[in-house]
Amino acid sequence: MARVRKAVITAAGWGTRFLPATKSQPKEMLPLLNRPLIQYSVEEAAACGVDLVVIVTSLGKKPMEDYFDRSFELEQMLERQGKSQQAEEIRRLSGLADICYVRQKEQLGLGHAVLTAKNVVGDEPFILFLPDDIFEQGKLVLKQMLDIHEHRKGSVISVREVAEAEVGRYGIIKPRKVADRVYEVLDLIEKPKIGEAPSRLAIMGRYVLTPGVFSAIENTPPGRNGEIQITDALKRLNQKQPMHAYEFEGELYDAGTLLGWLKTTVALGLKDPSVGPELKSFLRDRLRD
Ligand code: UTP
Repeated sequence: MARVRKAVITAAGWGTRFLPATKSQPKEMLPLLNRPLIQYSVEEAAACGVDLVVIVTSLGKKPMEDYFDRSFELEQMLERQGKSQQAEEIRRLSGLADICYVRQKEQLGLGHAVLTAKNVVGDEPFILFLPDDIFEQGKLVLKQMLDIHEHRKGSVISVREVAEAEVGRYGIIKPRKVADRVYEVLDLIEKPKIGEAPSRLAIMGRYVLTPGVFSAIENTPPGRNGEIQITDALKRLNQKQPMHAYEFEGELYDAGTLLGWLKTTVALGLKDPSVGPELKSFLRDRLRD
């Protein structure tokens, strides 16, 4: 597996779909069971062996920084109360990865958020995480993507087939199949109209990107909603360098909308041995009503 040393997690958005809950707390700190949303991406990055996780933040996102910091008082208090397992978990959290933060001073879109990490990433490939997307098999998906990156060179994006009616919500690729679940990307189009989509393969929130993406973003004018879109920049990059897509296996949960967040919570809850069985019978009773 190719060794990619850095990961970027974009977490500077307003999270308007969760307002008012996100008025004074970051969307990325909303819990999925007992972990904030962003922890899933940080854990996945750590599991891929990256040395540095770069989180793109903005005003009001400080709770995220505190979350991954060490809290001696809390650890000691838990130890004193005999809760050593919890103390260990809290300690583990602060040692998950080396994390640094860069600020996106104006929310000009996802592409722009990635660009703010340029100086920290430098001239090397990196993994990009959109933390709203929770991959059931995250580590495995990235392992496959890193393998494709190593063998075929260039950038690799994760894709999943979506229903015809949903293509307008995503970046869609024009694919040419080159191996099982692997496609050469011939073109990309952001949120196409139904009937104009070149396939139903939609781009999801894990990418292995070459540093060439930064100049591609710099040359990308604002697109939809006046935002600098990552798909538009990838389209540019694709004209210069090979790009492949991996159609991943396993569930993907979109925790970035209220309904998606609820579904993710229920799906993860049902799988969790500590709450799953009771949650299941609760849901059964509710559905009977
Ligand atoms: P979203 O499109 O989900 O935007 O961004 P958002 O602000 O988080 O949420 P809504 O749409 O207002 O409800 C996808 C990812 O890109 C980041 C977000 O933090 C999220 O991880 N992002 C988006 C930025 O970091 N900066 C931006 O300017 C826009």
